[in-house]
Amino acid sequence: MVAQGMTVRLATAEDAEALAHLRFRFAEESNRRGPQSLEDFVVHFSRYFRNALDTGRWRAVVAERDSTIVGHAYLEIVDKLPVPGRPYRRLGYVTNVYVEPDLRNEGVGAQILERMIGMGREMGLESVVLWPTPRSVPFYRRHGFEPTDALELEFGS
Ligand SMILES: CC(C)(COP(=O)(O)OP(=O)(O)OC[C@H]1O[C@@H](n2cnc3c(N)ncnc32)[C@H](O)[C@@H]1OP(=O)(O)O)[C@@H](O)C(=O)NCCC(=O)NCCS
Repeated sequence: MVAQGMTVRLATAEDAEALAHLRFRFAEESNRRGPQSLEDFVVHFSRYFRNALDTGRWRAVVAERDSTIVGHAYLEIVDKLPVPGRPYRRLGYVTNVYVEPDLRNEGVGAQILERMIGMGREMGLESVVLWPTPRSVPFYRRHGFEPTDALELEFGS
């Protein structure tokens, strides 16, 4: 399904404040919001995001309608140790996948995720990984993600 009137593109530093607002909304929706005002968070996140883009380690894909960003996903590029014959190895960590509540289930998330997967493939990443919410598992599986045997130790911080 292709959502009508939607543009999907790579985010730039100019999107930082709009992305900060959406990140704040996502944190509220998922009850992960700490005691920080929206204004302070926008300043902090915008700085973080611009710096993240500058490092070349992060990319973000956004969906935009009528010049307003309504969804996004982020990709962090993680280096892997070389093996003989493969000097440059990288994987992608996908995070902060979000579409505004009113626009869900119309294929916007699918467009964002496909763009991100395509980008990862073009960059020659070995794989992309993510930690899904239970509700979003069918969404990711439809796009080719499979459970793996990874182990994780949570420090709870
Ligand atoms: C996950 C999300 C980005 C998908 O965007 P979307 O535009 O609704 O995606 P699509 O229309 O392409 O696909 C719909 C699928 O998304 C998933 N989905 C729908 N609502 C969801 C929600 N509130 N939370 C998580 N996943 C959801 C479902 O798998 C749905 O398909 P299904 O009902 O057949 O299982 C969007 O629902 C969202 O922002 N959810 C809240 C944030 C979130 O949970 N992000 C993922 C964290 S890993």
